[in-house]
Amino acid sequence: MAKKFPKLSGKLILAPMHEVTNIAFRIMCKKYGASLVSTELLSANALSREATSSLKLALTDKEEKPVVVQLFSQNTDSIVKAAKLLERKFDIIDFNFGCPSKKIMSQGSGGALLKRKNKIGEIVRELTSSVDIPVTVKIRLGVDKKNINVIEVAKICEENGASAIIVHARTVDQGYSGKADWSQIKKVKENVKIPVIGNGDVFSAKDAEKMLGETGCDYIMIGRGSIGNPFIFKQIGEYLKTGKVIEQTKEEKINDYFQYIELTKRFDIFSIKDAKLKAQEFTKGIPGCSKLRQELNKVKTWEEIKKLVELI
Ligand SMILES: Cc1cc2nc3c(=O)[nH]c(=O)nc-3n(C[C@H](O)[C@H](O)[C@H](O)COP(=O)(O)O)c2cc1C
Repeated sequence: MAKKFPKLSGKLILAPMHEVTNIAFRIMCKKYGASLVSTELLSANALSREATSSLKLALTDKEEKPVVVQLFSQNTDSIVKAAKLLERKFDIIDFNFGCPSKKIMSQGSGGALLKRKNKIGEIVRELTSSVDIPVTVKIRLGVDKKNINVIEVAKICEENGASAIIVHARTVDQGYSGKADWSQIKKVKENVKIPVIGNGDVFSAKDAEKMLGETGCDYIMIGRGSIGNPFIFKQIGEYLKTGKVIEQTKEEKINDYFQYIELTKRFDIFSIKDAKLKAQEFTKGIPGCSKLRQELNKVKTWEEIKKLVELI
């Protein structure tokens, strides 16, 4: 029997994103109303060896709960070992069956697994029978246009105990290009009983409303739309409740950036590289942001970065 996917406080979930969804960013998204947040994909192989760098990425805090840890690997023993190591810290374990990165695919992990139905069944079965918390899967439509198998894969995951299915409505070889095909999310929803989380190309409140209406999905997962813009969760949440689109002022955006930086310091993950990148992302769209980008290239210290952002 699958463990029940928890009833979330709202419809919106933060997508796992490599080098984006660290603990500081997750807390910001939570503050703005994301009902569930996720770590980036973490190597189950490295975690099963208790590698320090991976354990650092598996840092969590009660402020962000409920929180998901996403794992990738092709080695079932490592996956189970990593899941057992983390199940007391996290609320849900998500497994990645869709990452298109060459490095991960070449190890036979991520999107490469979508070709191996027996292996998918084995991983989900072993995971769900080894831990006491819900296990979800994040899948794509198939490896490429000629091999769309999302419904079959979704059913295999459900039969083997998955608690919910996240569908990023692109094929693996599409990467992030082209348009997400939401009609496939609808088909998955019609073919499984567990909750379906729709993902792909939700950048605005209207997109969110449209995805819910067109696909009947239970929840929406937002990735790129939240980069430098955790406020998107409040904007969409408000719109779904009231039909009104609220906007953020320049000062509020800058304030969010400084709050994010404070959190990175609090959790000891601050870096100059990240502070510069996030300065660009959080100020995107503000007049003067392209000049800021050039100026950031010239500076080296946090004090200098701070001064530049304050001046924008
Ligand atoms: C920078 C970046 C990093 C990502 N890292 C991950 C990851 O670690 N695990 C994962 O399952 N998907 C990852 N994704 C994919 C997103 O979770 C999401 O499925 C995809 O971006 C589509 O959603 P969107 O259109 O809302 O961005 C990443 C995407 C981006 C842009």
